[in-house]
Amino acid sequence: MSPRTPTAPTEEEVRNLLKAVIDPELGDNIVDLGMAGDITMVDGVVTIGVKLTIRGCPLRAQIQKDIRSRLEVHPWVTKVKIDWGEMTPEERTAVMSRARWNARENATDTAVPITARVLAIASGKGGVGKSSVTVNLAAALAAAGKTVGVLDADIWGFSIPRMLGMPDRLEAARVDGKEKPMIIPNERVIGKGLLKVVSTGMLVEDEGTALMWRGLMLTKAVEQFLNDVNWGHLDYLLIDMPPGTGDVQMGLARMLPRTDMLIVTTPAVSAQKVAIRAADMARRSFLRVAGVIENMSDFTCEHGESYALFGSGGGQALADEIGVELLGQIPIEPAVANGGDIGEPLVLTATSIAAQTFTAIAQRIIDDTPEIDVMSDCSARAEDVVVTVRRSQSPQA
Ligand SMILES: Nc1ncnc2c1ncn2[C@@H]1O[C@H](COP(=O)(O)OP(=O)(O)OP(=O)(O)O)[C@@H](O)[C@H]1O
Ligand SMILES: [Mg+2]
Repeated sequence: MSPRTPTAPTEEEVRNLLKAVIDPELGDNIVDLGMAGDITMVDGVVTIGVKLTIRGCPLRAQIQKDIRSRLEVHPWVTKVKIDWGEMTPEERTAVMSRARWNARENATDTAVPITARVLAIASGKGGVGKSSVTVNLAAALAAAGKTVGVLDADIWGFSIPRMLGMPDRLEAARVDGKEKPMIIPNERVIGKGLLKVVSTGMLVEDEGTALMWRGLMLTKAVEQFLNDVNWGHLDYLLIDMPPGTGDVQMGLARMLPRTDMLIVTTPAVSAQKVAIRAADMARRSFLRVAGVIENMSDFTCEHGESYALFGSGGGQALADEIGVELLGQIPIEPAVANGGDIGEPLVLTATSIAAQTFTAIAQRIIDDTPEIDVMSDCSARAEDVVVTVRRSQSPQA
């Protein structure tokens, strides 16, 4: 059987993918900012016109990289060409006032701040360590001074409240400028950082009651966590995905197309085949895979001997197959499980190989995330615009 030839995306689909490209300084996506212009598609090549606010825009390289990586997720796309242009002074004024309005009103499609990097932790099958990876990465990022949201998207099988030692019920409150009451995430301070956590486990009485949520549409619950939580400032949002469902992924692609996936797999080469399903699902919903994490790698006994209990090589093989990096290999350590049981992620209490690996992966994520400085009225770009507009309006200019 010959592989199916992918069909070209519609222009609307391309625009939707481009909505994942954020101009960090202006705090909005390039489509809504009016920076994305004409789109043409011929034989796998997408050409897109992009208007920059100023020709020498310092973010040009970043925007180019983002456009490429977002569009190349589509199986039809083999090449992305960008026709750079510059806005007219009038267009610039319009875009700047929109950016200012956005900054003032904190207006985004969801309540997740536009500058937060969103990472969904997924796998092809259950029980491979998604939740353990989520809590340890979240704790490591917070220990590095970051503000980290954790969204437990495992609506029926939540484990985040227990693993982070945060059993308190969520409360709602009226927030300035918002019509309806918002859910206030539970917070936990870690060093100079902060965790902000929501889970259906914080809504129900006990873990057994979760069954009652079966009637609830999965994506609806996730949507509520994206829209109705007063997230406030976040550097990162980590989403612990439920096992084996594409629904939540499709929902995220629609609601937060800038979500990056981290795929967790065990080292067995057979697990890699299963994990590829998660990557396929990501691709089908056009989400970018940011990397692979191998969990439950070699177990080293107290005599220092290592055993590949669940095989070896699966993480690297998966990363190679989907063309992303293997971000780390976390060994089997009973302390990982124990940390989950007592609500203290291992990274906060130990310096074992697993703890060091979680911290190193968190650092790679930090290094891979551009520093974002949301537009303020005194930013160089804004001043440049003011000057240009004044000049163009002045009769002597
Ligand atoms: N590196 C590790 N070493 C030892 N135990 C681990 C490790 N990673 C995870 N575990 C344990 O394996 C079990 C499954 O992990 P976890 O709950 O994180 O997986 P999951 O992928 O989120 O599962 P589910 O699909 O059910 O949500 C847990 O008991 C956890 O404590
Ligand atoms: Mg889990």
